[in-house]
Amino acid sequence: MAKSPKALVAGNWKMNGTRASLKEIRTLASKLNDKKVKCNVMICPPATLLCEAKEVAKGSKVKLGGQDCHAAESGAHTGHISAGMLKNAGASAVIVGHSERRADDGETDKDVAAKAAAAHANKLTAIICVGETLAQYENKETLRVITAQIKGSLPEGATAKNTIIAYEPVWAIGSGLTPTVKEVAKVHTHIRKRLNAALGDEADQVAILYGGSVKPANAQELMSAANVNGALVGGASLKATDFLGIIAAYE
Ligand code: 13P
Repeated sequence: MAKSPKALVAGNWKMNGTRASLKEIRTLASKLNDKKVKCNVMICPPATLLCEAKEVAKGSKVKLGGQDCHAAESGAHTGHISAGMLKNAGASAVIVGHSERRADDGETDKDVAAKAAAAHANKLTAIICVGETLAQYENKETLRVITAQIKGSLPEGATAKNTIIAYEPVWAIGSGLTPTVKEVAKVHTHIRKRLNAALGDEADQVAILYGGSVKPANAQELMSAANVNGALVGGASLKATDFLGIIAAYE
């Protein structure tokens, strides 16, 4: 059997955090220094904090990521940030296709694939998010939705080195609700199969993260599900102590 991909526990701060919040990254970095963890650790702060966060995390196990990027390299796109800019600011990865962006900004799978390609072109790992809405879950459309999202959002040239998938059921985000471990395993195994169809054997090494109401109390159980290779954490990544409680699943 192929070796499992190295797990990643990534924190998505979303539109939260000011310079005062950098102390959480400082605490995380110093606490991790004393621990042996079997996963990579990343914080995706707002872009305004990336450069300073990079300084704070210097020499530690904490990697940094962006929360979105534009598909273009530069140009007249007021308010947007390119993958190259994120790389330049210290990111090693970028989240693309988060459901909040798909919903708030009308991003399509095609947009997401273009953003992921821009990430790859700038040597950033693309963390591509997929997940069904509550209505789709209730109509038992989860696997169909995920199949279409994976097919449409994966760019040419995706490899296990430059691509991570995050399964985030929309109804589990920020709600305190989660699918059962059995449901998570079923969807993640389905994602692995879809990746196999697209990438061949390479797919075995693609990390597949679970996201949606991951907390210290449920992390161990969720992370034990088949084909789960880490977590994408929102609310519980804002405080270093909570986030460390989730990382503990990989100690
Ligand atoms: P919560 O952990 O707050 O549910 O958010 C999950 C998420 O959307 C991470 O990208």
